Amino acid sequence: MAKEETTWQPDQPSQPEPSFDWAVLMTDDEFYPQLLRKRVRPAKWSGKQVRARLQELANDPLRGADRRFVTLINKDCGASTSPALFIGIQIMNPGEHIKPHRHNSVAIYHITQGRGYSIVADSDGNEYRITWESGDTFICPPWHYHEHFCTGQEQAIMYVVQDMVALAELRALIWEEPAGPEHIRQVQEGFAPHRDTVHDDGGEG
Ligand SMILES: [Fe+2]
Repeated sequence: MAKEETTWQPDQPSQPEPSFDWAVLMTDDEFYPQLLRKRVRPAKWSGKQVRARLQELANDPLRGADRRFVTLINKDCGASTSPALFIGIQIMNPGEHIKPHRHNSVAIYHITQGRGYSIVADSDGNEYRITWESGDTFICPPWHYHEHFCTGQEQAIMYVVQDMVALAELRALIWEEPAGPEHIRQVQEGFAPHRDTVHDDGGEG
């Protein structure tokens, strides 16, 4: 039986190829000086402005697993405090409970106001109940569940430092919220930790 002859046809692209003019070549003389962000200026955030912003947040109803916090952003570093670190300042009203979640960034908490306690739990189910008051510092190690309770009469304010920016830059930041293995996600562009609080208009709550 004779083989069917086929005529070779070059691929015809269905769309014109993009210009890729953002893809360039650099020699090492050009590349290394640009390896790090060039200009990260010193920055300061006013405590007065932080407190005012936190009070605005504290007056809002708390939705779902939401947390009331502001992040200190140095725009020289994109959307982060420094090229590797995040600082968030969280406020809780008396009686509030922040539901458990976990991430593989470490979280270092320093309490500047109020009192309460946190439950920090490892993957084996070992739970640590950490009571805290103004002046205390505690650490939630990477990949430990954590939840917070404000038990005092006044609002609680906690400074939180995390290495999440470094992990996110390496595309290695992992998040689980709400608690449950089915909610484990790699943090990617557009990530929102708790979509149950997204507003109807599509904005993040
Ligand atoms: Fe957290």
